[in-house]
Amino acid sequence: MTKRNLSSSIVGSLAIALLVGAAAVVPSGFARAAQPPLSFAGDVLPILHEHCVICHQPGGEGYIKSGLNLTSYEGLMKGTKHGPMVVPGDPETSDIMWLLDWRADASLRMPHNQKQLSTCDRNTIRNWIREGAKNN
Ligand code: HEC
Repeated sequence: MTKRNLSSSIVGSLAIALLVGAAAVVPSGFARAAQPPLSFAGDVLPILHEHCVICHQPGGEGYIKSGLNLTSYEGLMKGTKHGPMVVPGDPETSDIMWLLDWRADASLRMPHNQKQLSTCDRNTIRNWIREGAKNN
């Protein structure tokens, strides 16, 4: 293969990879839009109760250290003693997603010293934030 052919075949496979990637993203975006909105009480709170509340309730170590109370909508939206962790409509800048996706420093990965939440649970919280983080 000449140098020229090689580089055009690299460009070609990149283009194919991009197309395949876009095809994989678009249908799931549509599928999400077609689903009913996520509910705080029905979808998000049960995840917090299962994985977070043990430490993030009055008296728990997470609550004592950060001030974050995850037993209710009000507590989640109030955030820590330093301020809100959820930016309604914007999961990318919501600090809580950085901690749950383990993009933050290891000492701040949540749940603290435990297994990472499943992709499904993390996407539930992410999509609920994207839908406006409503008390629904
Ligand atoms: C085993 C106890 C424990 C569990 C379970 C736990 N946390 Fe924490 N969490 C902590 C502790 C301790 C801190 C304080 C960390 C620090 O400041 O060093 C904290 C801090 C936080 C903070 C604030 C970080 C900051 O920047 O101040 C957030 C947000 C948080 N936790 C979310 C969660 C979520 C969401 C869950 C459930 C998925 C969870 N935590 C589960 C112990 C826990």
